[in-house]
Amino acid sequence: MDATELRERCARQIDGFSGGYFTDRPWLREAFLAVPREHFVPDRVWRPRPKGEAGPHPLLDRTADPEGWLGAVYEPTTPLITQIEDGAVRPDGPAESSEFTSSISCSSVVVKMLHHLDPQEGDTVLEIGTGTGYNAVLLAARVGATNVVSMEIQPDIAERAARTLRQYRGDRDVPLVVAGDGESGYPERAPYDRIISTACVREVPPAWLEQAAPGAVIVTPMVTPFAVDALLRLVADGEGGAAGSFVTVVSFMRARGQRPYRPWSEVGWFTLRDLDVRVDAGGQRIRLH
Ligand SMILES: C[S@@+](CC[C@H](N)C(=O)[O-])C[C@H]1O[C@@H](n2cnc3c(N)ncnc32)[C@H](O)[C@@H]1O
Repeated sequence: MDATELRERCARQIDGFSGGYFTDRPWLREAFLAVPREHFVPDRVWRPRPKGEAGPHPLLDRTADPEGWLGAVYEPTTPLITQIEDGAVRPDGPAESSEFTSSISCSSVVVKMLHHLDPQEGDTVLEIGTGTGYNAVLLAARVGATNVVSMEIQPDIAERAARTLRQYRGDRDVPLVVAGDGESGYPERAPYDRIISTACVREVPPAWLEQAAPGAVIVTPMVTPFAVDALLRLVADGEGGAAGSFVTVVSFMRARGQRPYRPWSEVGWFTLRDLDVRVDAGGQRIRLH
């Protein structure tokens, strides 16, 4: 299969997942089918070994195995790892380390996040975690490239993404890629109608609230006490706050400044002592009191 056929098959596979993330977002399906994901993926990437399996994470090399590499690019649930340990592990062979620090998220998660973000035509968007630039170009297809600002903390990754975006877009406008800490946002272009982070936070950075337009949607993965990360969707209330809920379970690398553990109560979570447990003939129920 060539890249177009693989992309179409990948879209059909995503259609089949519960949630219908494409069905009520025709623009997203169109953008997904129009953008050659392979253009954004580096020639050497690691495929994370399946959970529970021992051994290193294999390296996929486009030159050595073009078919294997392209197949992986279009596996809907496979993220491809583009950086390990902030670049300390070189992409020249299988990797023992699981300290992943940059990736292209798997297609199904990219689509799920954009579904929940639900950007509208002409919206201004701030993305945190440019990575390869793939997500930024999908956003550009919806809101217009000049309305997208994407921030990447690792300068060489930001530089590569900007270059890749320019190559792909040719003489069309490109999203603005800013090398810097996305936790501070980018006030120069605020307010934003949509804020999306592809780096996982323990606490929503105050700058995102400050730079969110009233009614703005904020979508970010968050570290939880449940041994999984969860995708948080918030709506800004126009008074400096935001409220919302978790929409699904995900797995993401940490925002750089939020890697160290912080006590759950310090970042607003309940503790075990806040839970009531009732067991009776109806079963067991565990609720917050
Ligand atoms: C999952 S990857 C991004 C995937 C990307 N959206 C794509 O389409 O390829 C997460 C990225 O967030 C970046 N990152 C981590 N902390 C950050 C921060 N505080 N500000 C900006 N970028 C950050 C990492 O360097 C990494 O490239």
